[in-house]
Amino acid sequence: MQTAPSSTPQRSATEEAALPRVPSRGLPGRGGGKASYVEAAPEWRATTRQVCGLWPFIAGSGTPMVGVPVGRDLRSHATVCCDPISWFARAGLIANPSMFVLGKPGLGKSSLIRRMAIGLCGFGVQPLIFGDLKPDYVDLIGALGGNVVALGRGQGALNVLDPGAATAAALRLTGAARRKLTQDALGRRLTMVAALVGLNRRSRVTDVEEAIIAGALGVLDEHHRPGEATLMELIAVLEEGPEALRRVTLARDNHKRYREATDGLQASLVALADGALGSTFATRTSVPVTLSAPLCIDISGIAETDEKLQAAVLLACWGEGFGAIAAAQALADAGVEPQRNFFIVLDELWRVLRAGEGLVDRVDALTRLNRQKGVGMALITHTMADLLALPSEADRMKAQGFAERAGFIATAGLAADQLPALERVVALSQPERDLITSWSSPPSWDVVAEQEAPPPGRGKFLIKVGGRPGVPVEVVLTQGELAVNDTNKQWRQR
Ligand SMILES: Nc1ncnc2c1ncn2[C@@H]1O[C@H](COP(=O)(O)OP(=O)(O)OP(=O)(O)O)[C@@H](O)[C@H]1O
Ligand SMILES: [Mg+2]
Repeated sequence: MQTAPSSTPQRSATEEAALPRVPSRGLPGRGGGKASYVEAAPEWRATTRQVCGLWPFIAGSGTPMVGVPVGRDLRSHATVCCDPISWFARAGLIANPSMFVLGKPGLGKSSLIRRMAIGLCGFGVQPLIFGDLKPDYVDLIGALGGNVVALGRGQGALNVLDPGAATAAALRLTGAARRKLTQDALGRRLTMVAALVGLNRRSRVTDVEEAIIAGALGVLDEHHRPGEATLMELIAVLEEGPEALRRVTLARDNHKRYREATDGLQASLVALADGALGSTFATRTSVPVTLSAPLCIDISGIAETDEKLQAAVLLACWGEGFGAIAAAQALADAGVEPQRNFFIVLDELWRVLRAGEGLVDRVDALTRLNRQKGVGMALITHTMADLLALPSEADRMKAQGFAERAGFIATAGLAADQLPALERVVALSQPERDLITSWSSPPSWDVVAEQEAPPPGRGKFLIKVGGRPGVPVEVVLTQGELAVNDTNKQWRQR
């Protein structure tokens, strides 16, 4: 059989080499078809089942897939999964289960954390908000079927002498574990009373006064069931001056010396119980703090100007909350209950830090201990300057450590002058700097709807782990989330 002659004549190798070469973008000149601009191909992430036909035209993606799905990578559109607990415990991406969120107001910082709280709740991690100042989390925790406890003037009360969850937990333990939990709870109660007295009179409690409080609490425990006695009964013990207490003051039978030693403290306790803080702390606990479900302690009813009460309530909430976590841990260690992890949210950190003396120390202790206690943490504030705006140098140094110790930093839009302070904690490349400042642009005016368009940086975050390249992510809220996410409610209702 004869083959048909080819229409193109055969060329020799020398003729072939002499022909003009077509570059990868096409021939220049008229009719050459040169593409002067080649657009980068969009990247998408999908499962192997969805894109099996495209193999091997795939590129590895840099965004982690472990944790709560928070949104899409702004460059690759790949799903970004991120939360401090999964990144620490499952992926091993960070050294500490905590995150620090920064950004201008209204850009969606609390919304990002709410998304993480929802996801973590699905993973079996309990979200806990020990002091919601705005409130940002009340609707969410309610929707998750959790407990919302309101504290403040004319609202709920928290008895500072109540050992809380530790009492019930200790009964389920034996031997050394029971002793340790009970002693920890008693120690926490003593610290709490001393802190409240110190906060109320604006000077620290002395070591002798602390010993007197400890002695008086010991006397109370002999006559009352846990949670029964309040500050009123504590004052009555000081007034009465039983033998055990006189021994602590070295007054023995000398009544005058006893009065000299205890009068100052007693006056401070009376001021605490009768004053502004009394209605909240000097009566029996109205709703006990339990960690069996997500929890939000709503303290938004306390006026912003009522700084002393705000600081005192925050201290008491953390004391109570961490006591409950310690009790849950002790039960898990003894094998009585399953091991549980918690996600603690400290929103509006700038207000917490400024609320009063001692709060910086408390947050400092929390950020150092969270890993050992099996809790993940999210700290949220506006700028790094919030951490540096504290009156004492020691507090400023401690506060800066919060950002330095965080497992990772998620930053929304920031003004350019805020970046140097951030760069002391994480390294930023020029494109990353540009991205963060571009997100801080003000919203434009929508002439059709006659209202402001959403801010360009809303829901956009750069996730940075140390010096690694950041992951820019956009959080898109679902309908269900929008219903529990509206912190602009007061404006919309007009
Ligand atoms: N990704 C998003 N998509 C759409 N709306 C959003 C998004 N993120 C936040 N919002 C809306 O923007 C408003 C402000 O959000 P949010 O309270 O989370 O901001 P914030 O950064 O925590 O503000 P602040 O600094 O004042 O606490 C809310 O009404 C919220 O519903
Ligand atoms: Mg917020």
